[in-house]
Amino acid sequence: MTKKMIKNILQQVEANHTLDKSEIISLLRIGGNELLNAANDIRKTYLGNEIYLRALVEFSNYCCRTCYYCGLRAENKNAQRYRMTEDEIVSLAEKAYNRGFKTIVLQSGEDLHYSIDEYCRIIEKIKKNDIAITLSIGEKSFGEYKQLKSAGADRYLLRIETTNKDLYEKYHPNMSYENRLRCLEDLKSLGYEVGTGSLIGLEGQTIEMIADDIMFFKRINADMIGLGVFIPHPQTPLGQSSAGDFDLALRAVAITRLILPDINIPATTAMETIRKNGRLAALLSGANVVMLNIADEFYKTKYNIYPDKSGINQNLDEMLAELETSIKPIGYKISDSKGSHLVSNKKT
Ligand code: 5AD
Repeated sequence: MTKKMIKNILQQVEANHTLDKSEIISLLRIGGNELLNAANDIRKTYLGNEIYLRALVEFSNYCCRTCYYCGLRAENKNAQRYRMTEDEIVSLAEKAYNRGFKTIVLQSGEDLHYSIDEYCRIIEKIKKNDIAITLSIGEKSFGEYKQLKSAGADRYLLRIETTNKDLYEKYHPNMSYENRLRCLEDLKSLGYEVGTGSLIGLEGQTIEMIADDIMFFKRINADMIGLGVFIPHPQTPLGQSSAGDFDLALRAVAITRLILPDINIPATTAMETIRKNGRLAALLSGANVVMLNIADEFYKTKYNIYPDKSGINQNLDEMLAELETSIKPIGYKISDSKGSHLVSNKKT
């Protein structure tokens, strides 16, 4: 594949927003700055220069799952567990609203402590303010997703992590790939804005598998795609694996933007953790969303999905100031809209 061929692929995708698997593989292997810049151009055409902010509340780090890569896995006895009360969650949402956030993301391990009724009460209380709610609380039944939606939840995040069934089932004991897909389909059919995504750099994952992931995002009509880069956590079975490749993850972000020009793509915390200014690089390669953790340090330091997470020692004012300072020179600004996925009427 020559530079010229890459250029041709990029010209074609800017016009029709489709790529076949071999083209995605080529771009994942060797797409350079041309790829990243093309993604940034498309992002500007479809979404302008605005960055959507989300207030993230990691309300419980208890988890009944044993995913091989995650520090919150049930078998990690060293994790210091916490669980916020209903009132604490609602008051953090109030704080987010008062600080101007238009979306709150409620995320946790898969914690069976909270009942669906309790979640519904929390959602109804938060919804007294005009704020969008994104849930990220794992696999539930159709009926449960339906109740949560009726209570007022707007969006749901559930990464597929990898679309390779064998790899998925290897790293997610006692979980099934089919059920993961079922959840995503249920969420879509219930009218949620649905976010999914993958972990880049899992041991055994190939470039072909990442290309399949990207094609999957398009096939299921995702509204949001979060791509994280794998960071080994010492107290997990993958603790001795090497970290994922930041540049590969960045190319995956860019390619996702090329074929899904108007969706929401966060510049994930993992990208900033593994590379200084990684968040900014993602925002310049197609990403358009930033999630800021608004909880106190006490909680942030305990939500150890992976070690040394970026931002855990900063307070909200510091995080906001740093973000503003970093995006100003590149001509981006923070949006004051809810930042829903507005399906563009530009030809896709
Ligand atoms: N490195 C990077 N990302 C991780 N996640 C879990 N463990 C790790 C890790 N070790 C991601 C998963 C999950 C999200 C909340 O965090 O993709 O969906």
